[in-house]
Amino acid sequence: MQTITEFETDRLVIRQFSEADAPKVFEMLSDEEIARNAGAPWPYEMKHATGWISMHDDLFKKGETLPYAIEVKDTEELIGCVSLNNMYTPNGPGDLGFWLGRNYWGNGYATEAAKCMIEIGFQTLGLNKVYTFCLSGNVGSEHVLKKCGLIREGVLRQQMPRGGKFIDMIYYGILREEWSQTI
Ligand SMILES: CC(C)(COP(=O)(O)OP(=O)(O)OC[C@H]1O[C@@H](n2cnc3c(N)ncnc32)[C@H](O)[C@@H]1OP(=O)(O)O)[C@@H](O)C(=O)NCCC(=O)NCCS
Repeated sequence: MQTITEFETDRLVIRQFSEADAPKVFEMLSDEEIARNAGAPWPYEMKHATGWISMHDDLFKKGETLPYAIEVKDTEELIGCVSLNNMYTPNGPGDLGFWLGRNYWGNGYATEAAKCMIEIGFQTLGLNKVYTFCLSGNVGSEHVLKKCGLIREGVLRQQMPRGGKFIDMIYYGILREEWSQTI
């Protein structure tokens, strides 16, 4: 699978993480809500950030999981992560992931990065579908997914144990043919 390590949007650079990013990743994922919704370990420790980033070169070689750093062009600040994951079959589906440090929420950055990742998935990687699961009640994430054209396809009822309860997970997806009509 062809992989590219850097892209640009209007306001963002989407690039591979480097070792130097570990302290900022640690800082941003030390927020429990973000770490849990991003599927990161909790409590989040510095060794999780360094260990995760150290796997990236291998992940990019293999091409099944592609985690990208989101950086603001103007300030060169690392603000979060956008990824395509679980791409196990040629042209098969890719699982979209994204998270931002709390200080950067509410600027449209997640939507801009996710739209770019979806375009890479269809145009460069040749995927037929991009999908993701979102916890019920994660309003910000659902907004981002809808603004990126993903459609709510179904619910996995009480799928995720969280805080002594079982939370529904909502499945969102967009097909290549649907995305093609938006460009
Ligand atoms: C999900 C996340 C990336 C969204 O970041 P963001 O900066 O709010 O995203 P954007 O600014 O691109 O867009 C979010 C939209 O949702 C809206 N929104 C965000 N939180 C909201 C809330 N609690 N209630 C209502 N609307 C909300 C914003 O107003 C915006 O809509 P608008 O552009 O029409 O104004 C961020 O909240 C995050 O990192 N959460 C933790 C990790 C996570 O949940 N990842 C997704 C896993 S599926």
